[in-house]
Amino acid sequence: MTKKREQWGTKLGLVLAMAGNAVGLGNFLRFPVQAATNGGGSFMIPYFIAFILLGIPLMMVEWSIGRYGGKYNHGSLPGMFDVMWKNKVAKYFGMFGLFSSIAILIYYTYIESWSLGYSFFSITQSYFGLESFGEMQNFLTSYQGLNTSYFSSIWTAYGFLLVTFGLNFYFLYRGINKGIEKLALIAMPALFIFAFIIMIAVFFVGTPDPVNHPDWNVMAGFKYIWQPDFSQLGNAKVWLAAAGQIFFTLSVGMGTLSAYASYLKEKDDIALGSVATSSLNEFAEVILGGSIAIPIAVAFFGLTQTQEIAAGGSFNLGFVSLPLIFQHLPFGQFLGFLWFLLLFIAGITSSVAMAQPLISFIEEQFNVSKKKAATIVGLGTFAAVNLVVFFFQFGFLDEMDYWSGTFMLVIIALIEVVVFAWIFGMDKGWQELNKGALIKIPKVYYFIIKYITPTYLLVILIVWTIQDAIPILLMDGINPEQVPYRWLSRGLMIGLMVILSVLIHFAWKRNKDRQAQKMMEE
Ligand code: PHE
Repeated sequence: MTKKREQWGTKLGLVLAMAGNAVGLGNFLRFPVQAATNGGGSFMIPYFIAFILLGIPLMMVEWSIGRYGGKYNHGSLPGMFDVMWKNKVAKYFGMFGLFSSIAILIYYTYIESWSLGYSFFSITQSYFGLESFGEMQNFLTSYQGLNTSYFSSIWTAYGFLLVTFGLNFYFLYRGINKGIEKLALIAMPALFIFAFIIMIAVFFVGTPDPVNHPDWNVMAGFKYIWQPDFSQLGNAKVWLAAAGQIFFTLSVGMGTLSAYASYLKEKDDIALGSVATSSLNEFAEVILGGSIAIPIAVAFFGLTQTQEIAAGGSFNLGFVSLPLIFQHLPFGQFLGFLWFLLLFIAGITSSVAMAQPLISFIEEQFNVSKKKAATIVGLGTFAAVNLVVFFFQFGFLDEMDYWSGTFMLVIIALIEVVVFAWIFGMDKGWQELNKGALIKIPKVYYFIIKYITPTYLLVILIVWTIQDAIPILLMDGINPEQVPYRWLSRGLMIGLMVILSVLIHFAWKRNKDRQAQKMMEE
């Protein structure tokens, strides 16, 4: 009935693209900060539990929903839910997936562009000579346009943003096969090689100042993360942070994995693929991501200060501490370049994924070409990212990150698993998951997906709402200067949701009219 759907070229290409989707800034920037601020070894226990009980099952669910929806030519959640749940409201639940992926894209590309900028500044040694934490922080804020100590205006940052956007757009415009898959085939091996090189360099750091600080060393950093600590297990905050990290890092709860899976063939494996992607992501996160920022910071600043640095802001470890440290390492200029380029690569393979659901949606529901759909999404997100750039200092980005990149993911994950296991039905779902499977999934996952994952999600959602979401909603403790901008940020998000719902409404109406017309003609 419609033109042939694109498909992944090779198995390797698919798995690397999926891994590229999952492995992102979350692995190298967000994870160390979460681990450092939540007690290291005490964070890792709830983290692994969340991985097994939430991460892996949701990954399987997203792949299954995606491949199933793809069969009906749907590459985004509204259409996928619509074929799995014969109810008029189903498609509107899918709206949340379109929303969160695009909202995250809006601020994520900006951070991604910083890493491009910083890899350039490393090669050119622009920040070399800045020795104190304060100076380096000033360099970052100056880059962000908040003061003119190092950059006379925001335009340097803006230039890197344009390049970043241009590159993202280039790959999206070329489509799944020639764009995203090609990118992943080159970018992912490069990412792993870069991370290995940096990790080995970290091991050589040892104890940089044995005379004054014999216990500031790389091993102390590893010990902090890897020594199990059961004392914090009663603390809900740590459990929530761990679950939140699992969602973000695996890219579950936004429909981007489903979008990628929709380009699979009906009999392609999803069982091994979803487990392999999860494992690759965890390798990149806890082995590679965990072996860089924290150990090296502990070696140079000690454990207490590292924790304080991490608590002081999400970008302090990656964009402030590490550039300070690189200056003291042999080949520091090169290591700095690799580190930021690694971040950029991790970022771009994720940001193209975030744009994919909306591109598919526009392409399929409104019958426009992929190139046109990519252009529309590119221009729209670029317009919105300006708000993030210019209102950055007023918490615009933080507000978006909390609602769309943290809170919403739990809601979408819950919707997905309920649609899959309870509405579509777990028996049918299990069959779907095992169709074409290259491995046998332990039967216990049948029960986990059906009972444990939804219950776990529901509990998180309730505790999260009470502990976090309500105070954040009421803007407790927020500087009054920021309040209007944070409202603007919320306005943007609400506006986006409304626009997407309206689009869904018209898309379905339009398709219904066309079907009716076709029937009349026949
Ligand atoms: N998982 C990515 C990361 O770790 C982020 C991401 C979010 C990717 C949403 C795709 C969709 O950085």
